Amino acid sequence: MSVPAAAEAPRLAIIVVAAGSGTRLGLGVPKAFVPLAGRPLLEHALERVFDQPEPAQVVVVAPASHRAEAVAIGRRVAGIAADALTVVVGGDSRAASVSAGLAAVADTADVVLIHDAARALTPAEVFTRVVQRVRADRAGVIPALAVVDTIARRTPEGAVLGQVDRSELAAVQTPQGFPLAAYRAAVAAIVPGVEHTDDASVFAAAGHPVVTVEGDDRAFKVTTPWDLRRAEQLVRGAGPALRTGIGIDVHAYDDARPLWLGGLYWPDEPGLAGHSDGDAISHAICDALLSAAGLGDIGSRFGVDDPRFADARGEVFLTATLELVRDAGFEVVNVAVQVVAKRPRFAARRHEVEALLTRLLGAPVSVAATTTDGLGFTGRAEGVAAVATALLHS
Ligand code: CTP
Ligand code: MG
Repeated sequence: MSVPAAAEAPRLAIIVVAAGSGTRLGLGVPKAFVPLAGRPLLEHALERVFDQPEPAQVVVVAPASHRAEAVAIGRRVAGIAADALTVVVGGDSRAASVSAGLAAVADTADVVLIHDAARALTPAEVFTRVVQRVRADRAGVIPALAVVDTIARRTPEGAVLGQVDRSELAAVQTPQGFPLAAYRAAVAAIVPGVEHTDDASVFAAAGHPVVTVEGDDRAFKVTTPWDLRRAEQLVRGAGPALRTGIGIDVHAYDDARPLWLGGLYWPDEPGLAGHSDGDAISHAICDALLSAAGLGDIGSRFGVDDPRFADARGEVFLTATLELVRDAGFEVVNVAVQVVAKRPRFAARRHEVEALLTRLLGAPVSVAATTTDGLGFTGRAEGVAAVATALLHS
């Protein structure tokens, strides 16, 4: 959403009601604050609200207990558009919450949308569709979907009374949109004691026309635990793919060479044998990165007879590998390395190695070291082994 210039107040207001308790979800947390793929439902809802293109005043209606959290979530999503955000406390019924939201809407708006936070995955284009139709028709506008199931009427005991003609039915969603002034008047005219099931029925009761525009399957209302699982699958399915990889490298000590390990020079330590500088840490990381990206391994990517890599520093391999991984559409999330070696003693320079590798890869690299209690080739001080894992996201 673009940010309105100070001089021009937005013509659109969007009320997001999020003050319900979520009884049917039964998690003991108000529904809008239940985590969905690690972030509150309200945050998912607001992301899509702020994605619609018209500058808008967004009014979030929150439970009194979660007012501060709603403000924090709203600011996180709105970013520099946070000026356009208002948070108010809701009431005991959805209608009371809508009224609280409506009271906070600036009179400069000509269109108001009322949206359930519980319909958290409603795409931005549905908002746009509703707004355009309100302006075109000066009517109430509701997104709706054709009913696909056969609908039967039945008694409370379950006896079927007959079937309903499906062609006349539509499942109604939010956001519902209205010309602001006419909607305020319709709310003011509500006859006390008369229950309205949604916002459009308030508008219709005041004698105004209401029309439907096409809804969206993703605008379903999260009501039950099953709905929450469905939403979770949709969000995770659309999210970045994570891939892990593993790499191992071993080099024998060679007293005649300088030691390069983890991209650092280690004076007064036996070096490592190899076509390159023998930096087992850097090579294990390269293999882990290539493995995670499905790009083979360091041997097949950087051949031993390639003169570019004769005596090459670990840094050269890491930079070239990172480029391959990025070209394949991945970013590094983190890398973890375990070194197994009697020498060098790692503790004193561990942070230096981590800082260098983190800078090279642009992602956190952690390095741990151990000995093997005198066992095996590392215990006999014949060489160094390193194991690395890498996590990438697409
Ligand atoms: N809502 C609200 N204030 C209320 C009741 C509901 O703002 N007093 C909001 C909810 O937060 C939700 C939307 O209205 O975004 C639709 O309501 P519903 O799905 O019924 O949510 P809850 O009332 O929270 O759920 P339940 O009925 O299972 O308790
Ligand atoms: Mg409810």
